Amino acid sequence: MLTCYDYTMALLLSHTQVDSILVGDSLAMVMHGHPTTLNASVNLMALHTAAVARGASKKLIIGDLPFLSYRKSLSENMNAIEKIMKAGAHAIKLEGAIGNLDLIRHVVQSGVPVMGHLGLTPQSVHMLGGFKVQGRDKLAQTNLQLQARSLEEAGCFGLVLECVPSKLAKVISETLDIPTIGIGAGPATDGQVLVLQDMLGMNPAFKPKFLREFADLKTVISAAVNSFHQATTDGQFPSPDESYS
Ligand code: KIV
Repeated sequence: MLTCYDYTMALLLSHTQVDSILVGDSLAMVMHGHPTTLNASVNLMALHTAAVARGASKKLIIGDLPFLSYRKSLSENMNAIEKIMKAGAHAIKLEGAIGNLDLIRHVVQSGVPVMGHLGLTPQSVHMLGGFKVQGRDKLAQTNLQLQARSLEEAGCFGLVLECVPSKLAKVISETLDIPTIGIGAGPATDGQVLVLQDMLGMNPAFKPKFLREFADLKTVISAAVNSFHQATTDGQFPSPDESYS
């Protein structure tokens, strides 16, 4: 699984072997420059989901429910989910288990597949005291295991495990029947997810231990932009072939 937030990238991903696309609320940070995901709104998520769906409708598209959008009244929660599904998502994802289980049951019974998300849940960054690895001590590990089980029992079809020790992710992955998708959770999860721009090497300021850059697009893009600038200032661009007679 990879994140994707726009039509052009979605079109590129539609021709790859990646199984699934997450329109993550990380778009608040990656696309809009906010310091956390808290600034993502339902309308913003729906806008980006629609763009991704136009580019890669044959991939499994999972739309993130943004901060607090599923912690209100049932009708407001369902309106948020309706917007994101009608924008083109095939499933939604929400963070945390405690307080969400009744809603998950209702959403699943309404025909909407739900993915869970445990460990470092960025919408709770201020409660967690920062973007930190979770589940380091025994109590926290037991809690996460119980929450994972409760999400499966409530009907989640999959679970993202973010920034937890590999051993814990392995135990949870082996215990659950539903697939786990890890980010910073080691190799034992059933799948992996990364933020597209991060794995393409577009974000020099972000270098967490778990991130592997599979390309160096910051260098490629910067070289291309400088070539364009040079060719333009040298008068070599556009050439006669690139101009209309
Ligand atoms: O919003 C997001 O990109 C995510 C992934 C990091 C799992 O939730």
